[in-house]
Amino acid sequence: MKIISVVGARPNFIKIAPFVRAVKQADTTIEHILVHTGQHYDDAMSQVFFSKLNIPMPDINLGIGSGTHAEQIGATMTAFEQVLLAEKPDWVVVVGDVNATVACSQAAAYREVRVAHIEAGLRSYDRSMPEEINRVITDTISDLLLTPDVGSSETLAREGHNAQTICFVGNIMIDTLNEQLDAARALDVTTIVNEALVEGQVLPADDTFADSSYAVATLHRPANVDDPLALREITEWLTETIAGDLPMIWPLHPRTQRALETAGLLGKLLANPRIILTKPVGYREMLRLNLGAALMITDSGGLQEECCVLGTPFLVVRPNTERPITLVEHGGLGVLAGTTRTSLDEAYTKVRAVEPKPHIPPLWDGQAATRCVEAIVGFKTT
Ligand code: UD1
Ligand code: UDP
Repeated sequence: MKIISVVGARPNFIKIAPFVRAVKQADTTIEHILVHTGQHYDDAMSQVFFSKLNIPMPDINLGIGSGTHAEQIGATMTAFEQVLLAEKPDWVVVVGDVNATVACSQAAAYREVRVAHIEAGLRSYDRSMPEEINRVITDTISDLLLTPDVGSSETLAREGHNAQTICFVGNIMIDTLNEQLDAARALDVTTIVNEALVEGQVLPADDTFADSSYAVATLHRPANVDDPLALREITEWLTETIAGDLPMIWPLHPRTQRALETAGLLGKLLANPRIILTKPVGYREMLRLNLGAALMITDSGGLQEECCVLGTPFLVVRPNTERPITLVEHGGLGVLAGTTRTSLDEAYTKVRAVEPKPHIPPLWDGQAATRCVEAIVGFKTT
């Protein structure tokens, strides 16, 4: 059996690492090819994950780079089709909901190559998010839908997917989390921060970050960062409310750093001694920051899940989430906070009552990748 796995953006690397390992360990003669579309390309957004998570270097890098959604998806489909023609795989495995996911699954479907989607069935029902469009399209054309939770399997069944194509395997991101946890615990937060400071950021010599004494923020959704008014409102709230209570570490996605500069907000943040801006940090480093955080403020999907498992209360800076299982209403630790000052303030009051205690949903057990490989190998058409 020949499998091509596809990665393109940061969260993909974290999800594919255990899958590649599980393929290698499987008792079969699987030939595996790893394709990187090149959607993310900075060392801190890509290479660092390959080297630190022991992912083999991609066999093929399509070098697509940045662009509009149509540009990225179109260029990826065109380039990936050539890979399909040359390699003739039995399966294409895609993860998550990024442009690399939807582009390669579609190219495979047109060429009648089977597609397995890891992290199938998530829905925010918000089509203003490109990821929601990507999820719906990818699930629609996939042959095998590997879901992280029972709710996602039910969603797919409600949408009319054949029960035989849906397989609840658990959350593959947590395989990586479990694997990296001990190594992350051994790291020192102040060292992590010191080594990743953005240009112009100074860390006062006496600044140290004891566990439970700081907040961490990450933001990268276009709705939050590309609109200068929205970015200003969220940034002012972070500065006045969060950093007023807790020192705040903010690893910046390149999109966000650029947006803060363009909106004229970066200088003010750099001058605030309660806010420490860093470049994107490595996976283990982010895990360590998360372990010690009293609060996470984020619009990241993956971080919502990691906070839940680690026991870090978190605010989701979005009006909705495709990961309701992580919210307090479902036993998780997250509060949906919206993006206005009023809704953020309300959510902050609510999250302060959340007990910082791990919540581990069924099959978020570190074995999801093995179940993914078993489902692919054992797949039978009816
Ligand atoms: C993408 C995904 C998003 C995911 C995120 C993970 C889509 C539609 N979006 O969003 O779901 O949560 O990745 O981080 O696929 N850039 C760099 N260097 C890089 C990569 C990006 O400078 O290595 C900058 C470029 O200016 C680029 C911008 O970031 O235009 C956005 O990158 P892109 O991959 O288009 O979207 P993300 O916001 O990263
Ligand atoms: N992450 C990281 N360094 C950072 C920010 C995030 O390693 O500076 C990790 C995070 O712990 C999680 C993943 O990246 O495992 C989430 O990716 P991201 O937030 O970029 O995308 P999303 O999950 O929202 O699609």
